[in-house]
Order: sequence, then C-alpha cells, then structure tokens
Amino acid sequence: MKKHSYVLGTGLSHDGSACLLKDGEICVAIEKERLTKIKHDGFNDTMAINYCLEAEGITVHDLDLVVQSAIWGGDFGNGNSFFRGNRPFTDDVQVPVVTISHHLAHAYSTVGRCPYEGPFDVLIIDGSGASFDECIDIGNAFVPEREKIHGDIAHLYYEKDSYYTYSDEKLISVYKDFSPLGYYNKNYPAGLYTMDSIGGVYQGASQYCFRNHMDAGKLMGLAPYGCPGVYKDEIFFLQSGRVHVNYDWIRKLNKPAVSHEMFKADFKYYADIAYHVQKELERAVLYIIRGRMALSGSGRLCYAGGVALNAVANNLILSHTEVEKLYIQPAAGDNGISIGCAYYGWLVTLGEHRKVRENNSTCFGISYSKNVIEKVLTSFENRYNEDNLSTSIDNFFRAIESGYKPDRIGAVSVVIEIDIKDYCRYQIIIADGRLECKRGGLFTPDCIVELDALQLATIIQDPDYITILWEANRIKISDYQQLELFGTIVDIHEISKDSGINFGPQKKNILDKFVYAPDFIERSATLLAEGKVIAWFQSGSEFGPRALGRRSILADPRIAGIKDYINAEIKLREDFRPFAPAVLREDVSTYFQTDRESPYMILVDYVKDEWRSKIESIVHRNDTSRVQTVTPDWNPDFYKLLEAFKRISGISVLLNTSLNRRGMTIVETPQDALDFFYSCKLDYLVLDKFIVSK
Ligand SMILES: [Fe+2]
Repeated sequence: MKKHSYVLGTGLSHDGSACLLKDGEICVAIEKERLTKIKHDGFNDTMAINYCLEAEGITVHDLDLVVQSAIWGGDFGNGNSFFRGNRPFTDDVQVPVVTISHHLAHAYSTVGRCPYEGPFDVLIIDGSGASFDECIDIGNAFVPEREKIHGDIAHLYYEKDSYYTYSDEKLISVYKDFSPLGYYNKNYPAGLYTMDSIGGVYQGASQYCFRNHMDAGKLMGLAPYGCPGVYKDEIFFLQSGRVHVNYDWIRKLNKPAVSHEMFKADFKYYADIAYHVQKELERAVLYIIRGRMALSGSGRLCYAGGVALNAVANNLILSHTEVEKLYIQPAAGDNGISIGCAYYGWLVTLGEHRKVRENNSTCFGISYSKNVIEKVLTSFENRYNEDNLSTSIDNFFRAIESGYKPDRIGAVSVVIEIDIKDYCRYQIIIADGRLECKRGGLFTPDCIVELDALQLATIIQDPDYITILWEANRIKISDYQQLELFGTIVDIHEISKDSGINFGPQKKNILDKFVYAPDFIERSATLLAEGKVIAWFQSGSEFGPRALGRRSILADPRIAGIKDYINAEIKLREDFRPFAPAVLREDVSTYFQTDRESPYMILVDYVKDEWRSKIESIVHRNDTSRVQTVTPDWNPDFYKLLEAFKRISGISVLLNTSLNRRGMTIVETPQDALDFFYSCKLDYLVLDKFIVSK
C-alpha cells in the first residue's frame, strides 16, 4: 500500500529549482545555484530534482505527479525528457507531467504558502513571463488591447503583470497585461525581453550600472546614494491602468559602466540613475496595486514575481495603498516557480484542499546530521596552505610564460579574483592582451605579466564560461556577469599536466581546530559580543535569496567599522552595499519605527533616531534597514542566539548577511562552509554544534 503522495514541482527558468511536496507539505526544496555554485543557474533541472529525491529517499518512480514551468515554455516542444539536457522523465517513467505557464506558477507559490484563509488577491510583476499563446490562465481576465494579440503573433506578446482573486479554493484571473517582445542590448537600460515592463527597466538599469541585469538588489542598495531632482523625466507613463516605458528618456543614457573602475569613477552619475529608476519603480508599482485592488479589494494581497523582491517599494505598499495585509512569497523571483508548480499540482491537478500555514518556515534544504558534519570535519584537509600559495601562483604564470600552448584564441577584458585564505588574495586583470596580477586589494595591480595572444588564450578556451578551476574551484571569477559574458573553463590540472608544473599546495588537516560544544549558543553569543565575526551554519538551508539564520555571517552591529570590514575583507564587495539586521520579534519596535513582523527580510523599515548611531552598521544611507524579525517557531537556535546576545550585550539585534562572498552562491553543505571559512577572514565557524577556529 502506498504511504504518501508525492508531487514534484520544477522551475526551468533562470534561477531554477525543484520542490517536493509530501502529502501537500514541502518536505524538501532547493535552488539549482546552491548545487552548481553558479549564481542564478537554471534551465535543466536534473540536479535539483535528484537532490530532492535523494533527500526523501525515493526515486522518480515514486512520484504521483510532476508539474513544470519554463519561462520560454515553447522549449517543451522537444518533449518532457529533454530541456536543455537530459531529464529524469524518460519513457519508462510513468509519472504524469503537467506544464503550466509562468505567472500562474508564481501565483500558486503564494497560494500555497500564504497565511490567509481567503479571500485574498494575488499580484505578479516581473521582467517577463510566458507568451500569450502559452498562458493557461487567461480565462475571462481583462486583457488590454486583447484584439491586437491574435493568431500568428500571439507568441510575441509576453506577460508583464497579472492579477488574480482567490476565494472558495479557486484562483481566478482578473487582469493580465501583455507587451510585445523587446530586444536585448547589454549596454542599454531598457526592457529586456518584454517592452514596457517594470522589471525589464530595473534589470536594464542594473545592466547599465553593474554590467549584470541580475543585480537588481544591488541597484536598490545604490539608489539612496543618488539625489532627487537630477532626472525629472518620467520613466513610466501610467495610463488606463497600464504601465508604458518612456524610451526617449532611456535613449539619453549613453554611458553604461563597462568596467568597475568606470562605475567607481562616476559613482554619483550611476547612483543618481539608480535613485531615479527606484523612485519610478515605486510609482509604477503603487499605481498598479491601487488600480488592481479597486477591481476586487479584499484588502489582503499576496505578491510575487521578481519585482516583489524590491523591499523598499514593498514598504510603501503598506503605507501608501489600501492593502491591509501583505504576504510576499520570499522566493518571489523565478526561484519560487517550482514551489508554485508543486502547489498547483496538489491543489488543482489532484484537487486536494489548501492548508493555511501557521509555521511559515522558508528553509527547505537538507539538514546534516552530527555524524555527517563530524566526518566532513575530520576528513577536511586545508588545501590552501599559504606557504605553498605563492609558489602555486608563480607556477601558474610560469606555465603561461613558458609557452603553454592554447588551442583557441579570443579577446577578452575581465577581472578574475583569486581568493585564498586571509591575506592571499589575488586579482588577475586581463585586458587588451595583457594580464595583471595583484596580491591584496582591488584594481591597482602591482605585478604585471605581459601576454601575447596565444598566452592569453590559455585562459580563454570556451566563450561560454570562464572559471579557473584549481583545487576544487578555489579560484573564482569575480562576478556572475563576467561569468556570463566571458565564460571560459580552464582546468589548472590540465595546464599542470601539459606544462609539467605542479600547482597543488600541500595539505594539512584541521583536527585540532574544532570542538563539539553543546553550549554553542552561549559561546557564540559571547564571541559575537567580543567582536568576532562568525559564520553560522544550522539545519536545512533557506530557500530564497536571503540568509535568515541558517547560512549566515553574523556580527555585533555596534562595532564601529564592522560593515566596511565585512564588505572589504569577507564579502569582497562594494562599500555602498548595506547589511541587514536580525532582531527578536518582540523587540522590533525598540529599534525600528514599525512594530511589524518581517520574517523574510523583504520589507524595509526606518531605524529609530535614538538607535541610528548605536547600531550604524545595519543602517543604510537613508536611515532604513531591511529587517528580519526572528521567532522561535521555525528558527529556534537563531532565536536563542539573539536572546543570549541580548543577555550579554543588552541589545537583541545582530548584523546578518549571507554566508558567501560577492559572485558566490550561498553555501549549502558543511564542506562548502569549511571551504569558505578557510578562504576569508571569518573568525569562527559554528557548524551545527561544532565550533571551528583557525
Ligand atoms: Fe518570473
């Protein structure tokens, strides 16, 4: 007799993921990027699916249903077993596979997870969704200019915002807006893929400032450094309930930052653009919400889609519209598509009943047992012995200089960070056929190696990827954009083999560097109060872009300069990037203006005047913070840590940022955590109940 019902949801967009429901509850879910270590990785879903199946101890044959969604659904024309690579649904697997359209999947991610009984409304806004002919949720929804979208051009119109009502266990489409396919220009801050799209403009501005259209969060962090009044033109025309983009304003922008130096040299220019784009996004989002809420007006809004990650705009929804209750699905971007697919399968395809969630945890990763962690610790070898590092780097260049022969030639301009252990940080800059290497800081190389075209090409073998693999990926490209644009794979072992030079540093173990501490919470709180910066790894990982106390870097927010220290020495990211606070739920109104639950760090709030100078490392330039309120129900150890820190220090706020550095995905496994710990200036790693030092 079959014991459980399993529904697998899978998202095949960028930011791919898989989610497994067991009898209607998520038992495991994972974003693909956590497994491949490539930010925003997506499309083929086999790896994420296998992670879920293995975690639950089942096979694809045990599934009752698979529900999938891809942003370009037409690719399913190749069949379910093939989506940019082989998938587990081969002909001998008898599981039914259902395909749903993009905004509908976003919508069901909120229906499945939101804490309201109903009725409530659902709003989806993102850069681009499914094409008109792929949408299975149009029904009787109002579609502006519907008569234009017909027959043989229906596949050229894409979802940009969708509005639904939910009551009596039914989700009904009310309003769906479509725009024609746009075009892509990497230097142009306009709609990518879909015209007149709010998300598209924001992505375009991110591309313009940071050379990466996926850096929307960074753009939001940059915006407060800009000034009002520098730009007066409207970016969005708001008419008849719809958003249109003023492309005349966008065409005036003709100075995309083509390098980080250019961005830094003209910081104010880019900050002013970020400011204006942010303000315009807020105006457009509020306009849509006011207009759509007037169509039903339940007062309860569930919200998802990439634009829903804009924590600053989200705060205004509560203060500037009729929305009384707001639920934002924390994996609001395309990473949440698998969650929506899974709930669609359970609620619609299988016709089961919806459960309102009391304990709204968003942590669905595998929990690692004490035995597993102990095994990882005892077998871990510190492969990055500094004594050997310089030799290795030198050898790397010696190999190039000694004429290691490439088989392809290309042109590239890229910065590669090599980042090993505390003080052994290197940067390689490849530009115009010249390669520069610096030990330490950023962008002012003190060691330059001249390369000819052939030598340069040793690190440019494949234009699709750029990663230098050396001792398990310890040399990494500095950011995703460069990964995307200039990708090359160079296997240092290959170079080693061909050149006859050994690059591998010697190994040493860390057996004397960790302790099992049942009182790890008290000890961690003490370390934090002493000014230490600790990596905090507990239980199953968060699903979504924010670290919420499972894979976090924590510090005392009162320490002067701690923000700059973590940015420069641990996260290796720009100094304007803010850090968020985690605070005991019951104390939130002590430090922040609103006594509001905000468990997912997806709403900003203002820091109270009297606290700004005391906890300045978590106060952004405009006096706001992206607050995380912590409760004991699904984050018990993190809650106890905040309590313990409060007993020692008198405050119940910690600086909380994700356990990774710039360009790196958040760590997933104990091994990932150890690797990262030994490659940066973190003082301690608290790995479950083990405390690791250096
Ligand atoms: Fe989306």
